[in-house]
Amino acid sequence: MRVSEQTDRLASSVVTPDRAVATLTDDVRAGLLSRPRWLPAKYFYDDHGSELFEAICATPAYYPSRAEEALLAAHAGSIVEAASPDHMLELGSGSSRKTRHLLAACDRLGRHPVYWPFDVSAQMMLDAGADLVGRYPWLSVHALIGDYTGGLGRLPLPHSGRRLIVFLGGTLGNFEPAAAIAMLREIAALMRADDRLLLGLDRVKDRGRLEAAYDDAEGVTAAFNRNVLTVLNRELDADFPVADYRHRAVFDTEHERIEMRLAAGHDHSVRLGALDTVIDMAAGEEIVTEFSHKFTPASIERLLAAAGLAATAHHEAEGGDYSLVLAGRADGDG
Ligand code: SAH
Ligand code: TRP
Repeated sequence: MRVSEQTDRLASSVVTPDRAVATLTDDVRAGLLSRPRWLPAKYFYDDHGSELFEAICATPAYYPSRAEEALLAAHAGSIVEAASPDHMLELGSGSSRKTRHLLAACDRLGRHPVYWPFDVSAQMMLDAGADLVGRYPWLSVHALIGDYTGGLGRLPLPHSGRRLIVFLGGTLGNFEPAAAIAMLREIAALMRADDRLLLGLDRVKDRGRLEAAYDDAEGVTAAFNRNVLTVLNRELDADFPVADYRHRAVFDTEHERIEMRLAAGHDHSVRLGALDTVIDMAAGEEIVTEFSHKFTPASIERLLAAAGLAATAHHEAEGGDYSLVLAGRADGDG
């Protein structure tokens, strides 16, 4: 029976973190009570936030998603041939929409890996998994539900077989530089000589296009950014006047990153019920909600090298808009 067959090929596990992960309360205490005020990015992605992110990817201004998809469409075959995966682990898989190009290439080439998406947003991942097992009769999906900042040491991946680890969407660029290297080192620790990492990273380019990509005319990115305050209101019994915060996206040329911020529209106090605290926000005062680092071919090489990895193929979008890099362990012979 088709339905039960599909269930058999779609499993999920909650990932046990290797180390204690800060709770929302800890993060808010550390970030919102300090100056400049900041919030960790993972709280964007509740069910509504995940839907808004998908909508961002469909806006004309947000070129990274289309650029990455075009690179995947063009190079999925060579990537799958080079990596010959038995297991494909994807960090921050979201809707797995672009990953379909890799699975379609696997299908064409008769390579049948198990797909292991790993995301905090369980619902979106399970919906995507159900769709994928319906598309490919050979495919098993094992969804990993959790926070990848808690570490990758306890994933239930079998020991044998070649691994392709996929990290798309420029999401590694959302880590601060030291944390990005630490994350890549954890990825490298999962890899043996023949294993590969497929990394999608956005590139430094003119400020106008960068800032427009993070401030689309339809206001979807603004709604996504503000949604993090709705999450805090719900989860922490807070009372941010969400609609009064203005979305800002500013390119910092020195750090080569877009900074997403929320600026208070007027002076007000916010009650954080769960922390039993009140914070005073002045008109124009900002909360930094996300960094999105942009790279150059040289900074990508340095980043990989710092984690003991080296590129084996580098696919660039036309005009150098975006990079899709296949990498292996620098000490590997593959
Ligand atoms: N790879 C997709 C989605 C990118 S958006 C694409 O390229 O379009 C970033 C994704 O990472 C979201 O699905 C979000 O839920 C997930 N994510 C963010 N922080 C995470 C964390 N700490 N642990 C696990 N997943 C996380
Ligand atoms: N990884 C995406 C990026 O840096 C995430 C993202 C896109 C994002 N648009 C955003 C995060 C707006 C916060 C706000 O491009």
